[in-house]
Amino acid sequence: MRRREALAAISLAVPALALPACSGAADGRPWWRQPIAESASFPCGVVASLPDERGGVILVALLEDVVGPRRVGVEIAADPGFSSPIFRMSVDLPDEPNVPVRMRVPLPAVHGRTTLYYRFLTERVASPTGRFRMPAASADAQPIRLAYFSCQGWQPGYFAAHAGLAAEPDLDLALCLGDYIYERTDDTGPRTDTIGAKGDGFAEALDEYRAKYRLYRSDEHLRAMHAAHPFLAVWDNHELAAAYSDARISVAERAENGRRAFWEWMPMEPGPADRVLYRSIRLGTQLELFLLDLHSYAAPISSGGSYLGQEQRAWLLDTLAASTARWKLLGTSTVMMGLDLAPGRPVNTNQWDGYAEERRLLVEHVRARGIRGVVAISGDLHTFLGGQVTTTGRNDGDPGFPELSGGAISSLGLLDLAPDQTTLARNLEDAARELNPHLTFMDALAKGYVVVEAGDDLVLTCRAVESPLDPDSPTRDLARLRVVHESGALQRLS
Ligand SMILES: [Fe+2]
Repeated sequence: MRRREALAAISLAVPALALPACSGAADGRPWWRQPIAESASFPCGVVASLPDERGGVILVALLEDVVGPRRVGVEIAADPGFSSPIFRMSVDLPDEPNVPVRMRVPLPAVHGRTTLYYRFLTERVASPTGRFRMPAASADAQPIRLAYFSCQGWQPGYFAAHAGLAAEPDLDLALCLGDYIYERTDDTGPRTDTIGAKGDGFAEALDEYRAKYRLYRSDEHLRAMHAAHPFLAVWDNHELAAAYSDARISVAERAENGRRAFWEWMPMEPGPADRVLYRSIRLGTQLELFLLDLHSYAAPISSGGSYLGQEQRAWLLDTLAASTARWKLLGTSTVMMGLDLAPGRPVNTNQWDGYAEERRLLVEHVRARGIRGVVAISGDLHTFLGGQVTTTGRNDGDPGFPELSGGAISSLGLLDLAPDQTTLARNLEDAARELNPHLTFMDALAKGYVVVEAGDDLVLTCRAVESPLDPDSPTRDLARLRVVHESGALQRLS
């Protein structure tokens, strides 16, 4: 929020949520007398961050069809009817197309776990109402409930799983572990993405990356998910760029375009230069969440070099050892445990199997320091996978901590195009478990997300849609797993 906007902000304090008084506009007019837009549309709904440790929430919305001044109001209240707003302000709109307005609203005195409602306002039209919850206070020992997902390809399926996620009760946080957009993919299905110079869905220029977020957020179920829960994300490869021989723009420039669009659209602020994305978030006494950046500092795959880079690695080892939270969730966009296609042949080295030395170092650190309650959560493989991360990634290594990789929201897995998917999937799962005995759970077909409940135990519920080809497919429980705090064992409950 710029200084001028801060001065224009007005806080309407209510006793239960005593907020610091803010000054009004210089001429004494309240914000709603400021020349905000007469009307606009909100094609991408609204998004709120998980408020940070200083109580600042970032709110994001795209306005189109703006009539009148390029300025919008926003208000926050403790009730969905906005009967007694606790904060009101107005801000200027960006001039460029497909660039959302975003602001950081300070709510330093609002109690942890308070649910708040927000909306953007023009004179005649309000945005959909969004909801977020203040993070649990540091001494709050109540269980924490969050959900994570990844890999929402636009073309291959509908985001039906987000309808299920939107309806999840009582979430402290919704988290994306990567591939929120696909800058390019061969996946095809019921929807078509025509972004890019050739109209084939290949985003290269900045405006094309911006158009990706505009397109993805037009999905009604994704919008409902964002309106329902505070949100954080890390990027995986598809928010950024890869080498393609037919690209018009260099990989470095495309990746930079991807990063810029990410920061414009996600309700997050970049950190300092040496740690732009990676960060840890504490939620009460039960949970600390570590979000990792695997795409900014990585040495070449299988070079023996670092995946995290020296500074991120030192930060992770230190903060993990120092954390007093009962559970330490490692949010890694790629799968951490080893996964073999044949003995000694990893399925994919574009994940921690390509950085085995750093994985060994991390697991040995956790073992040597006796750090309890570490659990890795990941995405990327479009397959639900539960197992143990060991010093070698495999059964012959010393055990470290469990991992649960969530399936995709909609992106295709290995078997999605096969004619008899179910039989093939079950055969593949049997073969994979035989080759990878550290796996305790696998489902190669299901699409969905994972709900984490972190209390005395940590319970992971995999939730899946019946079909991503049906936009209104209902969500069901696929499996429930439990992590035992002392041993780190991952047990299947149902
Ligand atoms: Fe993906």
